[in-house]
Amino acid sequence: MCGIICYIGNQNTVPILIEGLKRLEYRGYDSAGLAAINSENTGSLYLKSVGKVAELEKKVKKDNIYCDYGIAHTRWATHGKPTEINAHPHTDCTGKLFLVHNGIIENYESLKNELIKNGHKFISDTDTEVLAHLIEDNLEDNFEEAVRKALSMVEGTFGIAVVHKDFPRKIIVARRGSPIIIGIGDNEYIAASDINAFIRYTNKVIYLNDDEMALLSDNNITITDLDLKEIMKEPETIDWEYSEDEKAGFKHFMLKEIFEQPKTVENAIRGRVIDGEGISKLGGLEPVLDRMLNLKRLTFVSCGTSFYAGLYGKYLFEMLTDLDVDVDYASEFRYRNLKLSHQDGVVAISQSGETADTLAALREAKRKGALVLGLVNVVGSTIAKETDAGVYCHAGPEIGVASTKIFVSQCVILNLIALLLGRMRGLSIFEGITLIKEIKKLPGYINTVLEKSNAIREVAQKYLPYENFLYIGRHLNFPIAMEGALKLKEISYVHAEGYPAGEMKHGPISLIDEKFPTVAVATNGFTYEKMVSNIQEIKARNGKVIAVATEGNKEIGNIVDDVIYVPETIDILQPLVNVIPLQLFAYYFADFKGCDIDKPRNLAKSVTVE
Ligand code: G6P
Repeated sequence: MCGIICYIGNQNTVPILIEGLKRLEYRGYDSAGLAAINSENTGSLYLKSVGKVAELEKKVKKDNIYCDYGIAHTRWATHGKPTEINAHPHTDCTGKLFLVHNGIIENYESLKNELIKNGHKFISDTDTEVLAHLIEDNLEDNFEEAVRKALSMVEGTFGIAVVHKDFPRKIIVARRGSPIIIGIGDNEYIAASDINAFIRYTNKVIYLNDDEMALLSDNNITITDLDLKEIMKEPETIDWEYSEDEKAGFKHFMLKEIFEQPKTVENAIRGRVIDGEGISKLGGLEPVLDRMLNLKRLTFVSCGTSFYAGLYGKYLFEMLTDLDVDVDYASEFRYRNLKLSHQDGVVAISQSGETADTLAALREAKRKGALVLGLVNVVGSTIAKETDAGVYCHAGPEIGVASTKIFVSQCVILNLIALLLGRMRGLSIFEGITLIKEIKKLPGYINTVLEKSNAIREVAQKYLPYENFLYIGRHLNFPIAMEGALKLKEISYVHAEGYPAGEMKHGPISLIDEKFPTVAVATNGFTYEKMVSNIQEIKARNGKVIAVATEGNKEIGNIVDDVIYVPETIDILQPLVNVIPLQLFAYYFADFKGCDIDKPRNLAKSVTVE
């Protein structure tokens, strides 16, 4: 969704802003803009465009003025269509103030009416423009004070960056519910809504918390609360690496990330298992181990792919622990009238750590006294900060909008958490040791599937003419069927529906004919025979079937149209092998169709609106 980048230092600002915007592109957006200022003569460059950042870049000319600070934005439309006028930065009546904003100003209509009465002229349909005029309305001779006053009047969420020509060499950033991270360079500051925007310049960062504001100026940064009371913060060092060749030779980030999965698994388990004792060691959960021992029920809450990780977690925890386990979409959980107590644990699963509904769900759970845990990839993100304790994926940045490596990472870490809880509550050392042994073999199993990518590519090509797909699986493989269908629809815009295989007879079977193929996750395990029965039912109705099956299974090749063979592991881990061919199938299918795989239409990497 929307992205912010701003820079103040000694370098030519516009190229830095453009590069930062490009690094934010993966989040999903539909227009972009920048405002940069030359502090000597207060000349400025104010550019906006609809579409890709490349369109904005075309507007930057060689003879444009040199700017030494500025702000920029990628906009994902909420209030008003994606037009140049609605693109950020927005300005006030004087045209001297420029402001970019992530989030939503909920009381913008009443504020706008008041401002119009005071003589302000609005040109856009956005909620953001209100904030620009509100600051102008409060501006006397102190810029910080005007921003502070304006922010105290708004309801809703914001991450903002604002500059004013009359107050040169000053950028004010502030947050409430929408991230702002300040990168500290050599005599320069580069702040953004996402570390990826500036990781090339610095890995020293300061995270703003809600209702905090920072004034970035020459070699100086002042952080305050919204009453302008100063707050001291030390920079933190983050371990994400910057690489020039980010795609590492792969055509898309998504493909690179699929191929990174053996490494992702290794990173997820590194230093986190005690082999001989058949138990995991998760430093992030240690402060709450006592509370975890007393839990009766655990609920996973998440969205999108992270929801399917939670769904897998439900089956997994039921197998390894004695807890009652539940899973819910964060967007639904937050509105349920749940009876939660201190014996409830709620696990918020989120790659970005910023998903608005997941955040709202965890706040609701906290309010009701539950222990709130996080399983998050982005270090320092809001969900990571607001949970009582948690575990990081340590999977590095995921750029492809359609999540792949983080799904597998989340599922591996769920195994480690289940192992920890299980071993504290009755799981035998033998079961623990067996699980760890197999987890350690996962990277090898995943590699074996990746080596078959050409064969999977051929299957994808064969099915290109089809426009509808059913994905089925049972028990632990049901979430995998759902995730496989999600991957295909997200990036290829082809209809794909995931279903528990047993439910197929209660509806979807009526869709089956020769034009409606099914992808069946049918590896060996205790539901295999039942899966074969479902496949036979499809074949009896002329449906085509692609099966994901266990290497060495000769029988299934005689029943289905195409088989993708995968190595066998224990039931619990088999889904993490089975999901790989489904990711590759979706990827190649979308690539053959020429889709914008890393940035699918209408989707955003981090969904920060509810
Ligand atoms: C968006 C992304 C998905 C992601 C979901 C949840 O829909 O496009 O890839 O799974 O948000 O995001 P989170 O960051 O909370 O895991």
